[in-house]
Amino acid sequence: MDAIRVRGGTRLKGTIPISGAKNAALPLLCATLLTPETLAFERVPDLADIQTLSALLAQHGTEIEREGDRATLTTKQIQNHIAPYELVSTMRASILVLGPLLARHGQATVALPGGCAIGSRPVDLHLKAMEALGAQVEVVGGDVVAIAPAGGLVGGLIQFPKISVGATENAMMAASLAKGTTRIENAAKEPEIVDLGELLMAMGCKIEGLGTSTLLIEGQTSLGGAKHRVVADRIEAGTFAVAALITGGDLYLEGAREEHLQAHLALLRAAGAKTRADAGGIGISATAARPQAFQATTTEHPGFPTDLQAQVMALACVADGKSTVTETIFENRFMHADELMRLGAHIQISGNTATIEGHANLSGARVAATDLRAAAALVLAGMVAQGETHVTELVHL
Ligand code: UD1
Repeated sequence: MDAIRVRGGTRLKGTIPISGAKNAALPLLCATLLTPETLAFERVPDLADIQTLSALLAQHGTEIEREGDRATLTTKQIQNHIAPYELVSTMRASILVLGPLLARHGQATVALPGGCAIGSRPVDLHLKAMEALGAQVEVVGGDVVAIAPAGGLVGGLIQFPKISVGATENAMMAASLAKGTTRIENAAKEPEIVDLGELLMAMGCKIEGLGTSTLLIEGQTSLGGAKHRVVADRIEAGTFAVAALITGGDLYLEGAREEHLQAHLALLRAAGAKTRADAGGIGISATAARPQAFQATTTEHPGFPTDLQAQVMALACVADGKSTVTETIFENRFMHADELMRLGAHIQISGNTATIEGHANLSGARVAATDLRAAAALVLAGMVAQGETHVTELVHL
């Protein structure tokens, strides 16, 4: 897909089934490297990142079968412990093979990752976690080279100085095959972490404290196969929720889980949405022709997620009044602001806070998607702009 053309002015109405979460599926698929048995997944989204990861896993020795949204993965043996630059550089989440390769195979060489263009994104916390389990880790010529002690990784204390989703996931997978118990402090609490923990438990690992800041993981000598349904994508659901409100519409997000989206739904209610959740999903509708201004600050889960920041900024552009959006997780994650301004939005950036003076007269233009969420934000804004919005550079979308 080269471009998306959006003609604004339509009120959205209907039911949308929510896909499995990309950010859950990536670590879940990596868990195949921990076991010679088969992992069978349902609700795996069909996305470029999943294909990139599948190619990476295949060259480590994984056999993968896909049928619709199902995927079965079997890694009888690790055939190759090197994750090459060509694959890793296109997707930051490739670093998630580090923990499982090291735990099962005793060594891993993983090129330093690239990923979305949203500021510097180091992997130091991942490396420190591996060292806490006894690994020797060096960065040599752009590659992370990690070697476990002769008898394998040993459970230990991992104290994260900063909360990291990916580093928590890598630590959990490595600890699941380490000798003894690992205590992870200041762990991430995102629903994707809980989903990974549930898979690891189904594979035979013992974990306490899932969804809290302290995880206790009792490593096993081997892990078995399991079946698992990927958790619904809260970011996709949250994006469609903005689409409902921004167009003055009414959507039912089938499969979305309210408990994963509380901060976002509270923000949308403050902006004028009516939400109704039941066991099957979340309904969301607009109560007025225009949303109200609001304040949003991104924080780790259960706070307002950085992955929905660009989308609510699009909402703020057309809201009645002055909104502020503050980003505390990533630097350089306001690149969509310049593109929203091309549609006529009034945005001022000072440090990590954007102040947005909303108005009802956005007009369609040619815009470029600088990253995944920027693409979503520009489509959302295009849905209420007059005329046609042409969104290009969709590589991350
Ligand atoms: C994951 C999500 C991403 C989301 C992010 C924060 C996946 C595949 N991606 O990314 O969509 O935006 O969580 O919710 O799940 N950091 C370090 N050192 C490290 C690792 C991270 O300083 O070793 C910093 C990062 O630069 C960032 C913060 O920690 O400022 C949080 O990053 P992290 O939670 O690790 O994000 P990812 O796991 O990469």
